[in-house]
Amino acid sequence: MAVRVRHHVNPLSNKYQGTVDPPVWTQIYARPHQPLHLDIGSAKGYFVETMARQCPDWNFLGVEIRQPLVEDCLKRRDQAQQDNLHFIFCNANTALQAVLQSLPAGQLQRVSIQFPDPWFKKRHQKRRVVQPELVALLAETLPQGGRLYCSPMF
Ligand SMILES: C[S@@+](CC[C@H](N)C(=O)[O-])C[C@H]1O[C@@H](n2cnc3c(N)ncnc32)[C@H](O)[C@@H]1O
Repeated sequence: MAVRVRHHVNPLSNKYQGTVDPPVWTQIYARPHQPLHLDIGSAKGYFVETMARQCPDWNFLGVEIRQPLVEDCLKRRDQAQQDNLHFIFCNANTALQAVLQSLPAGQLQRVSIQFPDPWFKKRHQKRRVVQPELVALLAETLPQGGRLYCSPMF
């Protein structure tokens, strides 16, 4: 049965306020010591999926708030046996801190946030993923020389 995937979810609704238990990284990646690229709002996951194929000496992690998309990404990842790729269903604004704190210091080296939902209406702007707290968390976690790639909103 086809599952209808909503175009937008409200990240402030109760459903999305939880945290996640960080994975045991040694059970996720075949080479857990490799540098990590995090993609926030990974949607259908094609960007990190392609990057993971092209850069086997990096690990890739997509985080996405729409659960059905993450389930599809994980299925494709497993079918393709990509051992440097993972996805987590979470709200980056509430759950990312615990995930990043579980990483060895310095492992997160690149972060991308591409075409984040713009939430144009002024009263909706607090739903945007790029919030001061997220920027502060990334600044704290990225080592010197780490990179943050942020494309404009649609
Ligand atoms: C406009 S899409 C861009 C998708 C993808 N980055 C790209 O470039 O095609 C924004 C994505 O961010 C996700 N998203 C929005 N808020 C989020 C949040 N708080 N945590 C995680 N993902 C979020 C949306 O569900 C959506 O998949």
